[in-house]
Amino acid sequence: MITFNTDHLKGFVNDEDIKNVFPALKEAHEDLHAQKGKGAEFTGWLNLPSQIRENFLNDLQSLASQVQSDCDCLVSIGIGGSYLGIRAAVEFLGGVTKIPLYYAGQNISSDYLNGLLESLKGKRVGVVVISKSGTTTEPAIAFRLIKKLLESKYSAEDLKKRIICVTDEKKGALRQIATKNGYRSFIIPDDVGGRFSILTPVGLVPLALAGIDVKSLVEGARKAQEEYKDLDLQKNNCYRYAAIRNILYRRGKKIEVVSSFYPQVYFVAEWFKQLFGESEGKNGKGIFPASMIFSTDLHSMGQQMQDGERNIFETFISIDKPEHDLTIPYDDDNLDGFNYVAGKSFDFVNKKAYEATSAAHFEGGVPNMTLSLCKADAFHLGHLFYFFEKAVAISGYMLGVNPFDQPGVEAYKAKMFALLKA
Ligand code: PA5
Repeated sequence: MITFNTDHLKGFVNDEDIKNVFPALKEAHEDLHAQKGKGAEFTGWLNLPSQIRENFLNDLQSLASQVQSDCDCLVSIGIGGSYLGIRAAVEFLGGVTKIPLYYAGQNISSDYLNGLLESLKGKRVGVVVISKSGTTTEPAIAFRLIKKLLESKYSAEDLKKRIICVTDEKKGALRQIATKNGYRSFIIPDDVGGRFSILTPVGLVPLALAGIDVKSLVEGARKAQEEYKDLDLQKNNCYRYAAIRNILYRRGKKIEVVSSFYPQVYFVAEWFKQLFGESEGKNGKGIFPASMIFSTDLHSMGQQMQDGERNIFETFISIDKPEHDLTIPYDDDNLDGFNYVAGKSFDFVNKKAYEATSAAHFEGGVPNMTLSLCKADAFHLGHLFYFFEKAVAISGYMLGVNPFDQPGVEAYKAKMFALLKA
C-alpha cells in the first residue's frame, strides 16, 4: 500500500484549487482511457499490468534458472527507458541479484567499458541487449564490444544460449541481428514507449534473469491499475498528485525535487526524471524534475532547498518499514554527546530527520508531499512505477502536451551523426 500525505501543501494548494482543475483532469482522464488524446497510439502501458500472462512470467522463471546455471554474470545493455527502470528495480530491492548484474550501453565512456571488460575476465558471461528502436548508438556499440568478447570464447551455437535480445517485433538492426544469428528474442510492444516500458520484456526479462521477483512487481502494478482507474479524487491519489503538480506549476513552482531519506530510491528517482522530463518537457513547458538523497544532500543542497529561489516543490518518497534496522549503541564515554539517542533505531532517527526536513522546507516556502511505501519490496515498487506512469500521462495532458513523444531527444543525435559521419 502507498499512502499520500499532503499536510505540507497548506497555504499553497487547497480543495478549491483542486475543484477548479477538476474539469481539466476529467478531460485528461477521458482522453487517456478512451484513447482519444495526443499520442494515444502509445498508451499500451495503461492496461498492461492486467494483460501480462502468468505463463509468460513462468517461462521467464524457467529461462532465468537456465541462464543462472549457464552464466556467472549478466550484462544488461541499454540506455534511457531500456536501462533506468531495470537499474531502479535492482537498486531499490537492495542491489542483490542471483548472479552479478553489470550494465553497458548507458554511456560511451571507454574507461567505463574497459573496467567492465576487466570485471568480465574469466567469467561465463550472459547478455541481455535491449533497444526498442534497435538503432540507438550507445547500446549498439557496447553490444559490438561484448559480442566480440563472447565470440572469442564461444561457438556460434553457444552464443545462442548467452545472448538474448529485447527489441521491436520487426523493425531495427537489433531484430535483424537476432534473426540472423538465431538469438533468443523478446518483443517490445509497439504501443509502449521506452520510458513506460518497465513492465514489458524491457524490464521483466533482465530482472527475471537477475533473480528479481517479477511476479510481485507485476502484482503491485496490477493493484495500482485497479486503484487508480476511476475519476474519484477522494480515492485516486495518483490523480490528486497530478492535479497538485499542475496547480503548483501554474503558481511558479517550476521545479519538482523528488527527495528521499532512503538511498535505494536513487535510481527510482533517475527513472522518474526520464519519465517526467521526457513526457512533459516540450513546447517551452514542463516542470523540471530533479532529485535528492537525504540526509546526504541536506549537507550540500540543503541551503538552496531551504532558502534559494522559491520555484521548487518537493515530493518525498518514504519507506515505512526498512528491511533491516539497527540500534544506535550506548557509549560509556559519551564524548560525542549522543547517548541521548542510544538504544533508538537508525530508522527512528532517519524518520525524525525526514519530519524535520519536510516541516522546515514547508516553512521555508517549499510545498511538499509524501508518498510512503509500506515496504521496499517488488510489490510496492511495481505499484509506484504505475502510479508515476499514470500521473505523468494525466499531468501531461493537463499541461496541454503530448506526454508520449520525445522529439527533443533526436536533436543531439542528428548533430552527433553529422559529426561522426564527417
Ligand atoms: O526517448 C527515449 O525513449 C530514449 O531515451 C530511449 O529510452 C533510449 O534512447 C533508448 O532507446 P531504445 O530502447 O530505442 O534503444
